[in-house]
Amino acid sequence: MTKRLIFLGPPGAGKGTQAERICKIRNLLHLSTGDLLRAEVTAATSLGKEAEDLMNKGELVSDEIVLSIVEKKLLLANQGWLLDGFPRNVSQAESLGTLLEKVSQPIDLVILLEIDDEVLVERLIARGRADDNEKVIRNRLLVYREKTSPLINYYTKLGILTSVQARGNVEDISELIEEKIG
Ligand code: AP5
Repeated sequence: MTKRLIFLGPPGAGKGTQAERICKIRNLLHLSTGDLLRAEVTAATSLGKEAEDLMNKGELVSDEIVLSIVEKKLLLANQGWLLDGFPRNVSQAESLGTLLEKVSQPIDLVILLEIDDEVLVERLIARGRADDNEKVIRNRLLVYREKTSPLINYYTKLGILTSVQARGNVEDISELIEEKIG
């Protein structure tokens, strides 16, 4: 059955890792706004140049830029999808809701990956991406708390949020997620 899913969770919770696995198993389109933005940065497009500085500081890129990328991809999708790293604030969630209503594609489930900050910091420092130094990681966590975590309440109120403990090995966490998706 076609599924339309969202992964929510702090930086380093394993959204990207788990999204890749679940999308492969279920033939879903994996839409990671972080990956799409990094591709723009690598290609040195005007959009990438605008986003790069903010990404390196761990701040959110403007809603306008992110929405323009996501909208195009979602409207072209002819399969189920999994959004990873989007929406990132209530305004993005509202825009997504309006878009999905227009195309009659409701969200089936929002899966919150829950994990302690100290595990995240360790994981991200070990990975070493451009935005994976301790100062920027702490800011990404702060931005998550302030801007993204209100989405927990937002999707709980819509009755479509579920949580998974994201500590442990990757395979076990995938199994927990699969159980929730059903
Ligand atoms: P984005 O790319 O979305 O980064 P993030 O949310 O900080 O997420 P990460 O990729 O760091 O973590 P993840 O949860 O995906 O974990 P992962 O699987 O990679 O965003 C980057 C930037 O882009 C933002 O700061 C912002 O500037 C901009 N941006 C993106 N979307 C935006 C939006 N919608 N609006 C505005 N701006 C936006 O795993 C992390 C590490 O842990 C890996 O090394 C992995 O191998 C390891 N790992 C994963 N699972 C496990 C496990 N179970 N055990 C041990 N290690 C594990």
